[in-house]
Amino acid sequence: MPKHIILDSDPGIDDSLAILLALASPEIALDGISTIHGNASTAQVTRNALAILELAKAGDIPVYKGCDLPLVKESLLSPETHGNSGLGYAKLSEPQSRPQIKHGCDFLIESILSSPNEITLVAIGPLTNVAMAIRKEPRIVEKVKEVFIMGGAIQHAGNTTALAEFNTFVDPHSAHIVFHSGMPITLTPLDVTYQCIFLKADLDRLLRIDSPITKFIADATRFYMEFHDEYQKIDGCVINDPMTLALTFMPEICDYQELVVDVDISTGVGLGNTFADFYNYEKKAPNMKVAMGVRPRMFMELFLERIEKLAESLS
Ligand code: BDR
Ligand code: CA
Repeated sequence: MPKHIILDSDPGIDDSLAILLALASPEIALDGISTIHGNASTAQVTRNALAILELAKAGDIPVYKGCDLPLVKESLLSPETHGNSGLGYAKLSEPQSRPQIKHGCDFLIESILSSPNEITLVAIGPLTNVAMAIRKEPRIVEKVKEVFIMGGAIQHAGNTTALAEFNTFVDPHSAHIVFHSGMPITLTPLDVTYQCIFLKADLDRLLRIDSPITKFIADATRFYMEFHDEYQKIDGCVINDPMTLALTFMPEICDYQELVVDVDISTGVGLGNTFADFYNYEKKAPNMKVAMGVRPRMFMELFLERIEKLAESLS
C-alpha cells in the first residue's frame, strides 16, 4: 500500500524536484500540496506547484494555498537562489487548473483528522502552515502518522546566515512551535543534504532522455548551480527537498540520532539557528529523529532512476 503523503512546499527548484520524485515513486500516493511562502511569494509558488503537476500530467492532484507571511518576522524570499519565479530559468506554461478554495492549513487539519495515523506530512518549506494548523487544531499532533521536515543545520554552517538554514531562518517561531509540539518528527538538516550534490554529470544523464521533464530540470537547475558556484563555490547543486521526501520510503539512505533539538528565537545573530543537546544536559526526552549520516549516491541513484522513468513515460 502506498503511503498517503501531503507535501507542504514552496516550489522552489528543489521543491519541484521533490514533487516530481513523489509522482515518480509507486511507494507514494500524493494526496495534495499545501503551499507556503519561502523561495517566492505564496501566490507564485502556488502557481509553480500547479504548473509542475500539469507538466507531469498530474493536474488532478489538488493544490491548496497556504500562509503568505511568517508568524512574527517580516517576509524573506529567495530570488538569488531560486530566481524571481522560484524556478530558475525554467518557463512553464500558465497552469490551466486553479488552487482549491480551502486554505492550506485547513487542508492539513481535515486530512489528518479524517485519516488518523495514515497521513505522512512532508514539510519542505518554512513551517508556518504546520504551526498554524497545530495552533488551530492541536489534535493533529496525535493523529498525524509522521512528519518529515527539511530544515535546520545542526553541526553544519547555515546557508542563509552563518548559523541558520533558510526554512528555519524564514520562520523560526513556527519552527519552534512545530519542534515542541510532540509530533513524530524526522528532520533532514543541511548536515546530510550538503553531502548530496546533484552534479552536471547527473543532469547530462537525465538529458539523454528528450522530455519536457528533463528540459525543465535542466533549465531550473542551471540557475541553482550558478547560485551554488557563485555563493558557496559548490560544483553542482544541493537538492535538499527530494532527499527529505525519499526518506519517507527509503529510510536507509540516512543514519539517524534521536535528539533534543531546539531553534533560536531570540533576536540576535543566532536567530533561526537549530542546535541539538548532544549530551542531554537538560535531561529532556528527544523531540525528533535527525538524519546525521548519509549514503549520498544511494539517494542520487534512486532520484535519477525514478526521474528517468517518469521522463520516459512522458516523452
Ligand atoms: C531549503 O530552503 C530552500 O531554499 C529549499 O527549497 C530548501 O527547502 C534549504 O535550506
Ligand atoms: Ca523548499
